Amino acid sequence: KKVVLAYSGGLDTSVIVPWLKENYGCEVVCFTADVGQGIKELEGLEQKAKASGASQLVVKDLTEEFVKDYIFPCLRAGAIYERKYLLGTSMARPVIAKAMVDVAAEVGADAVAHGCTGKGNDQASTWTVRFELTFFSLNPELKVVAPWREWEIQGREDAIEYAKKHNVPVPVTKKSIYSRDRNLWHLSHEGDILEDPANEPKKDMYMMSVDPEDAPDQPEYIEIGIESGLPVALNGKDLSPASLLSELNTIGGKHGIGRIDMVENRLVGMKSRGVYETPGGTILFAAVQELESLTLDRESIQVKDSLALKYAEMVYAGRWFDPLKESMDAFMEKLTEKTTGSVTLKLYKGSVSVTGRKSPNSLYRQDISSFEGSEIYNQADAAGFIRLYGLPMRVRAMLEKGI
Ligand code: ARG
Ligand code: SIN
Repeated sequence: KKVVLAYSGGLDTSVIVPWLKENYGCEVVCFTADVGQGIKELEGLEQKAKASGASQLVVKDLTEEFVKDYIFPCLRAGAIYERKYLLGTSMARPVIAKAMVDVAAEVGADAVAHGCTGKGNDQASTWTVRFELTFFSLNPELKVVAPWREWEIQGREDAIEYAKKHNVPVPVTKKSIYSRDRNLWHLSHEGDILEDPANEPKKDMYMMSVDPEDAPDQPEYIEIGIESGLPVALNGKDLSPASLLSELNTIGGKHGIGRIDMVENRLVGMKSRGVYETPGGTILFAAVQELESLTLDRESIQVKDSLALKYAEMVYAGRWFDPLKESMDAFMEKLTEKTTGSVTLKLYKGSVSVTGRKSPNSLYRQDISSFEGSEIYNQADAAGFIRLYGLPMRVRAMLEKGI
């Protein structure tokens, strides 16, 4: 009787409103999440939703929650998909889907619908997996309606015709040639000339960062403050997660930081070329990982890095609310509890380099590690250690030489 629809104001989701009313005879509550995609997309949305036939539009600002509860745990885990992708789109899906489940409870809806249409290849299925796994995990009783799996509308022309027939104003927003997804963490570009992995992206495609060649000729130094594996401050000033990230996006973007160009394996197996801009995120990854070099020992770093691979794969695959992924969060939280301190970084023409790090919990001790000789580390101890440490090598060599 009542359905909550993930609504963007674009043609596809606008057409879904009358379609749901016609085919399911239900009241449609539109829902739009603000995850930092840019406020322009939210302007005039309520009138638009109502003009399409929705009973109301619910808008939720999820930016702080997104950064604090989704982005930061991935950052702390060191989650990177296929060596490069910082998971910007993947992390945004569960926070939006969770909010839909909450809104459904608030307005007394028994179903949710999502309007992922007109997307090529497996985009619709990746999107759907990420949303629907979240719905299943949080409320298995909610019905899920995915109109494009059911309806006859094929492509843009059909959609425009359907809109006209149902007196739905056709959104004037002109379609970008790229398929893009933006939020506070990143902006992704896919499609058009990028579909040939040999093509260099056009200079004017980028939106969050300047070309490193056009970045300032003077480097800029910044200091990131970190507490228990999570960033908390910029240049000595404490900031909320979302404000910290958005300031770093500005600074990083100005220096051309965080552009990634890659070919990735999509969820259902096909390859896909994507270009990502993650200016603030790239800086934060550099800072957090660097501080661990002081606070974590060798084996902890090895185990953490190996789990990070699995963690990233699960986030990419939409398994955010999976007990395994949640247990890995508990592990990461415990392991990084002493990762507190600060890292100084130099930003210059597309690069982030670490110039210093310090921590009250540092495992590095100058009195032990110094080239100047130390009391604690006695060279004479080394000889016996090395003979035993190298015993397997000696035994193997003796066997080969028949000794
Ligand atoms: N390939 C990335 C992912 O699956 C980003 C997708 C973003 N969508 C887009 N149309 N650019 O997480
Ligand atoms: C998503 O948006 O979650 C994945 C589908 C896409 O690549 O656009």
